[in-house]
Amino acid sequence: MKKDQLFNLMLVHSAEEVDQINKSFYGRYNYPWPPMMFPLYPAGTAEKFLNQDLGYWNHDRIFPNPKIWVAGCGTNQALFTALRFPESEVLGTDISTKSLEVCQNNARQLGITNLTLEEKSLNSIDYKSQFDYVICTGVIHHNAEPDVCLKNLSSALKKDGVLELMVYNYYHRLLTTACQKAVRSFYDIESNFDMELELSLIQDLITDFQQANLMGDFLKSFRHANKPHMADSLLQPVEFSYNIESLNKMADECNLELLIHCPNQFDASRGLLNWNMKFASAGLQARYDQLPDVKRWVISNYLMFNDSPMLWFYLQRKDATFKRKTENEICDEFLATRFERSTFETRNFLLNSNGNYILSDKRTTLPVSKYPSNPVANKIHANLDPAQNMHHTFSQLGIDLSFQSVNDAKLNLTNSAFPYLKAK
Ligand SMILES: C[S@@+](CC[C@H](N)C(=O)[O-])C[C@H]1O[C@@H](n2cnc3c(N)ncnc32)[C@H](O)[C@@H]1O
Repeated sequence: MKKDQLFNLMLVHSAEEVDQINKSFYGRYNYPWPPMMFPLYPAGTAEKFLNQDLGYWNHDRIFPNPKIWVAGCGTNQALFTALRFPESEVLGTDISTKSLEVCQNNARQLGITNLTLEEKSLNSIDYKSQFDYVICTGVIHHNAEPDVCLKNLSSALKKDGVLELMVYNYYHRLLTTACQKAVRSFYDIESNFDMELELSLIQDLITDFQQANLMGDFLKSFRHANKPHMADSLLQPVEFSYNIESLNKMADECNLELLIHCPNQFDASRGLLNWNMKFASAGLQARYDQLPDVKRWVISNYLMFNDSPMLWFYLQRKDATFKRKTENEICDEFLATRFERSTFETRNFLLNSNGNYILSDKRTTLPVSKYPSNPVANKIHANLDPAQNMHHTFSQLGIDLSFQSVNDAKLNLTNSAFPYLKAK
């Protein structure tokens, strides 16, 4: 059992024990808390943008209606997924009975019929080559042996399946981990993990912290937080975290390779969708740009530090038929592709004052804001000629064709976070 002192592993003795602790922790603090809205996507739309996230402009990497597993689905991730892929067969598993009950109740209210839920630990699962798309975000780093969980996720993928994985970025978790370990050090954790005692300790710290330092500011930000949020951040029983290097190494040991960053809403809302950095020095830029993807991201992770994007990546099996595309290749293919402007409507289930979800008559048009906010992306969107490839639009508008500039435009126009353009 790895007991690296840098992480919060004070309660780690065996995988089975940690499973039990997580089961009661997430039973007490169901995660996530109820969203205001669940959107229902038109069939086939999510697959299109998933392919574009991956740089498959012909939409031929993930086919319509993929078989999906949401591993460690919590209270609602499996519901969002079943509604995004309304014609797919979706399986959601979690270790928390209570979280699955919440999920099942809401599935009934939302009239979801394409979802199966099962109470299972990732540590003892043995699906073999079954899924086209596996989603596992925020789960394996809470386990005693995250690599065992990742091996099980890897084996569950079909040969050409895609895994969407999120683990904590070490440079985002310095304060949370320190705080978790401090709270736990106030009492004798060897005798018992005491959730209620920890909650009262952390509440005292949040209201009374005297030091004017980073930790003080961090704790203050929880003054109005709800309990599940506070617990999820500050009282996690077990928390590993990673950087690009350690994630890449663990993936490699589990027969997986990193494909590309997943353009998730959290990074998008913070303007952090790009793992590539810009340097004023042309020499430095050229040296950086010619490095292999993972090496560049390693540097970015160190230098962007707390402002690096989340470690939220798509991965594939190392023995997949598809050869991994580099970011450069994806950008070249993007330039060679013809695009059309894209909007689509979702129907929405809204939370009412009785805590129930009701299908609203009002529809939402996505993307929510009509035009890209990034100025270059905006110009491309406004002047796009669907009969010509993207290279033509760049040339017409005099936009430079460097990797950085093309990649920026791609990230602001063509993915699940910014679905402004659909490849033709
Ligand atoms: C932070 S929550 C994330 C939930 C969901 N993936 C999301 O992103 O909204 C972690 C979830 O992982 C579940 N979990 C932790 N260890 C697990 C395991 N070994 N097997 C299955 N579920 C697990 C917890 O019960 C909890 O619901």
